Amino acid sequence: MYQGKTAVISGGAEGIGFSIATALAEQGMNLVLGDIDEAKLAEAESILHGKGYPVLSCKMDVTQPEDWQNTANKAIEKFGKIHMVVNNAGVASAPGPIEKTNHKDWQWVVDVNLMGVVYGAEAMIPHIKAHGEGGWMINTASMAGMHGIPYAGAYTATKVAVVGMSESWSAELSKHNIHVSVLCPAFVQTRIHLAGRNRQSAYKAPPPNRVDQQRDDGHNAAKELVENGIAPEIVGHRVVEALNNRELYIFTHPSHRKDLAERAKRIDGAFARASESPLLQDIKESESLDFM
Ligand SMILES: NC(=O)c1ccc[n+]([C@@H]2O[C@H](COP(=O)([O-])OP(=O)(O)OC[C@H]3O[C@@H](n4cnc5c(N)ncnc54)[C@H](O)[C@@H]3O)[C@@H](O)[C@H]2O)c1
Repeated sequence: MYQGKTAVISGGAEGIGFSIATALAEQGMNLVLGDIDEAKLAEAESILHGKGYPVLSCKMDVTQPEDWQNTANKAIEKFGKIHMVVNNAGVASAPGPIEKTNHKDWQWVVDVNLMGVVYGAEAMIPHIKAHGEGGWMINTASMAGMHGIPYAGAYTATKVAVVGMSESWSAELSKHNIHVSVLCPAFVQTRIHLAGRNRQSAYKAPPPNRVDQQRDDGHNAAKELVENGIAPEIVGHRVVEALNNRELYIFTHPSHRKDLAERAKRIDGAFARASESPLLQDIKESESLDFM
């Protein structure tokens, strides 16, 4: 199913992206790693080459549509076709209360985590459609895409968007035999809590003029949660397992099932109260949203 096909993986130089790339290479896929971190990219390429896997690495910033086009061109030049895009690159700003999340943080997180996925889909899907053999799009969201996380409004907003876009694109692309999955991990041992290491200069916030204890505490809490997360290698293999089953939602932390069941119960309760409201008794059932 995967042998000799080509996957483009953003944020593929380390962490979850690297683990997905490795698991896909084990299935016989050609890899195109896209990442903003040139040194880590070279390291990843040499590890994968060392294992005999076909790999091309492309320095790119997912917030730049022209970088995506360059990566697509290089991928086609080297491997002929593109069959899979893994929109995985993502960042997180230090957790903090609403009034302390500055607009540069918002812009950075939105541009990488949300627009980066939009540009990836825009650049790669036409190439996947073009050969008619079908393929895959995998988008890395988070458990934060399934329910709001306190002190992480920007991150949550982008991950909810990635889940929503994946549902939308799944319905849209199935007739092209392009399977869409959205990966929703809880904590994984990566360097996500140090995401600022790759923060582009356009998004640099002015340094605070005093020590901000609340921000430091938020950073330390995030670091501890990530360090106690699951190993990234498990995530890569879990992705392949779920793709084999053509799952839309890919979960890696079964213990969070009860949180989602609780959320579903709260939403259902809200519908029950709406259906009892005297204000809404004359409202007719609306048409299905599945309009195309
Ligand atoms: N680690 C976790 O606990 C966790 C949990 C849920 C979801 N996620 C998501 O997993 C994805 C991967 O994160 P990770 O945990 O492996 O973190 P990581 O920091 O280890 O890896 C992220 C990779 O993305 C690259 N990157 C960052 N900005 C980029 C840009 N503008 N353009 C191209 N590449 C860029 C980095 O260089 C790095 O190689 C992210 O979308 C993240 O939100 C992580």
